[in-house]
Amino acid sequence: MALESGGIVILDYGSQTTQLIARRVREAQVYAALLPYVATLEQAQAAVPDFRGVILSGGAASVYDPGAPRLPGWVLDAGVPVLGICYGMQLLTQALGGTVAPSASREYGKTEIRIDCAEGLLAGLDAAQTVWMSHGDRLERPAEGFAPLASSDNAPFAAVGNVARGLYGVQFHPEVMHTAHGTEMLRNFVIEVCGAQPGWTAQNVIDASVEAIRAQVGAGRVLLGMSGGVDSAVAGALIHRAVGDQLVAVFVNHGMLRKGEPELVVEVTQNLGWNLVAVDATEEFLDPLRGVEDPERKRMIIGKTFADVFEREASRVGQLDWLAQGTIYPDVIESAGTGRPGADRIKSHHNVGGLPDHLKSKLVEPLRELFKDEVRAVGSLLGLPDEIVWRQPFPGPGLGVRCVGEITWERLETLRAADDIFLTELRAAGLMDGIGQAFAILLPVRSVGVMGDNRTYDEVIALRAVTTTDFMTADWARIPDDVLAHASSRIVNEVKGVNRVLYDISTKPPATIEWE
Ligand code: XMP
Repeated sequence: MALESGGIVILDYGSQTTQLIARRVREAQVYAALLPYVATLEQAQAAVPDFRGVILSGGAASVYDPGAPRLPGWVLDAGVPVLGICYGMQLLTQALGGTVAPSASREYGKTEIRIDCAEGLLAGLDAAQTVWMSHGDRLERPAEGFAPLASSDNAPFAAVGNVARGLYGVQFHPEVMHTAHGTEMLRNFVIEVCGAQPGWTAQNVIDASVEAIRAQVGAGRVLLGMSGGVDSAVAGALIHRAVGDQLVAVFVNHGMLRKGEPELVVEVTQNLGWNLVAVDATEEFLDPLRGVEDPERKRMIIGKTFADVFEREASRVGQLDWLAQGTIYPDVIESAGTGRPGADRIKSHHNVGGLPDHLKSKLVEPLRELFKDEVRAVGSLLGLPDEIVWRQPFPGPGLGVRCVGEITWERLETLRAADDIFLTELRAAGLMDGIGQAFAILLPVRSVGVMGDNRTYDEVIALRAVTTTDFMTADWARIPDDVLAHASSRIVNEVKGVNRVLYDISTKPPATIEWE
């Protein structure tokens, strides 16, 4: 896409916040791509043609460790401005002949710095700034040609710069929100220092994608698996805008969706005038799940059945030439594994399974370059309703991973009703905006209760609500007692077969967000 040219290359040295750097740069309407630190110049140019600057992320290593990640030679030879963040700053300093050493005490958390020279990166900012630090090593002596720009009590060189060459280093993390004016700093760097042109807007992304989709698919027909989630809906909306009736959306209802969800998918796609094939395959999913309690086996069965049903329904539609997927940028980064060591597979995820063989190499992935917030902005601009655009993430196996123990239709109905009450109460209390995900879980436990004069022996519902920015870590949401009380009393009164409600107060890690 031409829209990517003239953007910024970010080299990932493994910091947990590297993705945030790209998001902040894009907030300045400049495209930024994340590449592993071993990327070659050719790879950088392929990802961002005519790139205007390079940002080196933070990372956990020390530049003096044997085998520590290095600065590729092309970065300083490319003749573009460079910003090193934390480890990136230390690398830059080391490469240019300055000195880095362990600091006497590790600096972690919010820190006050003083800007001594408000130029370039720090132009227009007040002298006193709050920033976020997280470092063990620090700069002892800047490289030649670098002037100190800011200092903290613990780091005499909290920011340094060779303003003439456009080379900067910051010991703190401008990408995290605790750095009060980090976004301005990154904007200064990409716009003022690098001279990148802001053009990465939702409208431009739509125009460029529509053009790219048309060029890619020609007169071919495109198959899209709709899940009800925001990504597949926005991918579909872009493809529909590009090639209209050449898009065929297939929606498989596996019976484990939330209350009202299948109806919503059908209604929205019909309003948008898409070709939709909607199939209710509930029985086909529940049959092989009978008697199965093991979480991984449940996931496998749901994934495999999904693949079979999807492929069968797709083959009924006739000749299809392309397969659309709602892959988004974080998925691409994760599977490329830019800076991080290979992660353990905690749960086997299933998304749009069932690639018909002949389509495997014919993927249309219009969201590959977009972060979730960008996907939402594009979806809104394309006219998708807020209900879809602002949907919380929902796992592919749906309520299947929230129905702990055996999955039966009756248990799913119990769970669906409790889940709906919880979400309704959170919405009514105006709490949804601050919550990353909220849902109910049905536990395979019975407990004794009393209803009127009678003993009950019924199932237990757990409620989970988490705050999170990246879904990799999460905290339990501090929901006001009265909201929990109201949800609990409605659930035990209105949902047959439930006499007890729990609230999950575990963080991730060590727990995960879903229960299975
Ligand atoms: P966990 O439970 O691993 O979940 O903390 C992290 C995020 O991933 C979602 N999730 C899934 N998403 N297919 C998906 O598309 C899956 O199989 C799946 N399992 C978990 C989960 O809802 C949370 O947002």
